[in-house]
Amino acid sequence: MNIYFAPLEGVTRCTFRNTYNKYYKGVDKFFAPFISPADNCVMNPKEKKDVLPENNEGVFLVPQILASKSHHFNAAAEALCDMGYNEINLNLGCPSGTVCAKGKGSGFLNRTGLLEKFLDEIFDFSGKKNIRLSIKTRIGYTDCDEWEEILEIYNKYPISELIIHPRLRTDYYREPIRMEQFVYALKNSKNPVVYNGEINTIDDIEAVRKVIKENNPNMPDALMIGRGFLRNPEFIEEIRAWENDNQTDNNNASAIGSHSSEFDWKRFRLYHDDLYNQYKEMMSPDINVLFKMKEQWTYWREMFPDDEKTIKKILKAKYFGEYDIEVKKLF
Ligand SMILES: Cc1cc2nc3c(=O)[nH]c(=O)nc-3n(C[C@H](O)[C@H](O)[C@H](O)COP(=O)(O)O)c2cc1C
Repeated sequence: MNIYFAPLEGVTRCTFRNTYNKYYKGVDKFFAPFISPADNCVMNPKEKKDVLPENNEGVFLVPQILASKSHHFNAAAEALCDMGYNEINLNLGCPSGTVCAKGKGSGFLNRTGLLEKFLDEIFDFSGKKNIRLSIKTRIGYTDCDEWEEILEIYNKYPISELIIHPRLRTDYYREPIRMEQFVYALKNSKNPVVYNGEINTIDDIEAVRKVIKENNPNMPDALMIGRGFLRNPEFIEEIRAWENDNQTDNNNASAIGSHSSEFDWKRFRLYHDDLYNQYKEMMSPDINVLFKMKEQWTYWREMFPDDEKTIKKILKAKYFGEYDIEVKKLF
């Protein structure tokens, strides 16, 4: 099974990706948080640093572009192509108010006329440049009834992978997943479909794979996971061990390679310290470094259900001294 790490703006930039990949193995593709090209600026220094191949050695990276004007998209795609990328992702999912107000991200989904013109122009360009374009999308803006028309538009283009987060723009990241619309895509998409959303356990994976198998077994064996990997960094290894066990079971042999249910806290501490030290080298003062670490703790806290008091102190820390004392308590 191909497993993709979802892009999370502000959380999964190159320092994070490289460090995660150093300690936890098994992700096939990392998707970079979006680049947002504008007039006279194809990508800002932060965005450029994030995708430069020398900052992404050892990880398979797919850069992502968020745009509403085809000439912006194509200029950024050309710059990425010059860096050596031949696979690029288009963001049609971002639900943020400022993004949607500019007709970008999921703000494109209720402007289907403009969307189609945009797709005509970017697929024409990427075809000439031999760039594979994938799309990461929601299933509509405010209403599930929009999905049929949107999918019909997608079916006109050679999308390398249509990664679907089955929520509306107005659902943000909270409302229940709309599986009916995902099933509709499995049955009606002419392009390969990949699922993304709320996968946190092996049971979740089994449930989604069952839906895919029952509705279109020809779809690629691939899933995209985001917060599940942040909440439990070992999740990728659990998935790989589970696959291994399944294969062995299918071969009627004794199970080998079963994963241990013991979480490796020592490794997690090394991973934490590595990330923390790199951010310390990159930023100052303390509060900026701690801001980056606290983003991680909003997910990691779920691994420490009995330590809410300490977690709260970590999230309130303003100086390294306070932060270090609380983190030490946890470990
Ligand atoms: C803080 C945050 C930032 C995100 N940034 C991006 C982004 O830059 N590009 C994108 O396509 N999706 C972005 N997403 C959406 C995720 O990639 C993913 O679709 C979403 O979290 C659902 O998957 P999950 O339940 O496995 O996390 C972001 C989500 C969050 C919570």
